[in-house]
Amino acid sequence: MRLLPELALVCLESTLVSEANLLAIKSLSVSFGGLKALSNVDLHLNKNEVVGLIGPNGAGKTTLFNALSGLADVESGELEINGKQHAWPKPYELVDLGISRTLQGVGLFPELTVLENVMIGANKSARSGLISSALGISGRDETKLRQKALSALERVYASGIANQRADSLAYPVTKRVAIARALVSEPKILLLDEPAGGLGAQDIEWMNTLIHNLATQCSVILVEHHMDVVMSVCDRLYVLNFGQVISSGEVEEVRRDPAVIAAYLGVNN
Ligand SMILES: Nc1ncnc2c1ncn2[C@@H]1O[C@H](COP(=O)(O)OP(=O)(O)O)[C@@H](O)[C@H]1O
Ligand SMILES: [Mg+2]
Repeated sequence: MRLLPELALVCLESTLVSEANLLAIKSLSVSFGGLKALSNVDLHLNKNEVVGLIGPNGAGKTTLFNALSGLADVESGELEINGKQHAWPKPYELVDLGISRTLQGVGLFPELTVLENVMIGANKSARSGLISSALGISGRDETKLRQKALSALERVYASGIANQRADSLAYPVTKRVAIARALVSEPKILLLDEPAGGLGAQDIEWMNTLIHNLATQCSVILVEHHMDVVMSVCDRLYVLNFGQVISSGEVEEVRRDPAVIAAYLGVNN
């Protein structure tokens, strides 16, 4: 059958878009001793998407983030970034790959200021643990980094507290600073691990708005237990249970999936 030229072009474009995912995980498996934390997990993220990764505690969500950020030993599986196969990244490669994450716990250095904590987010050696080298930079680089850190703090409406020590902050504020730290490297892919965890209703609402805003500038994989946030900000969902994807697709489709209701949503609703 001959396609009309316009139709052929549309088909070609849609093929290209679906093939050139910003990120594609194929058949990822991670084990801890005898425990299969992830089994043959497939997940992809398109440009400007917010993808939710949900599932009960222990399902393997954080392990998937760890695999993507060089903190878990990958047993098998492939990774594509921008449509090209890539080795599983080492922590020090993340900045150049445009990947940044927050930790499930906040993970700020209590004795450092907010600004110093955020500046550390841009530094490759700091990510592999050498804080002193991060703070030892000087001159023009430091001025540039300081400026980037301040604008990351502005994006989370926290520039007014730049010089406060991290251990003086209320918990909801530390969550914002942790996000600013992830933003300072100007990621294309942001991995958020339970950003609304431990927050009250008002701060959850605030976080919801913040994720919406962030998603205008980068793509996001969101791990979150607060289903109202997930339903409000995500374009698509993946549901993990015991390390396996038991459902994936559009939010409404997944929400109605009996397997999901049984494994997860039914438990909470
Ligand atoms: N470093 C580790 N050593 C051993 N077991 C681990 C480790 N990290 C995670 N696990 C186990 O792997 C499974 C998945 O954990 P995790 O990815 O943290 O789940 P989630 O983030 O979905 O709650 C759990 O059974 C957990 O106990
Ligand atoms: Mg977790």
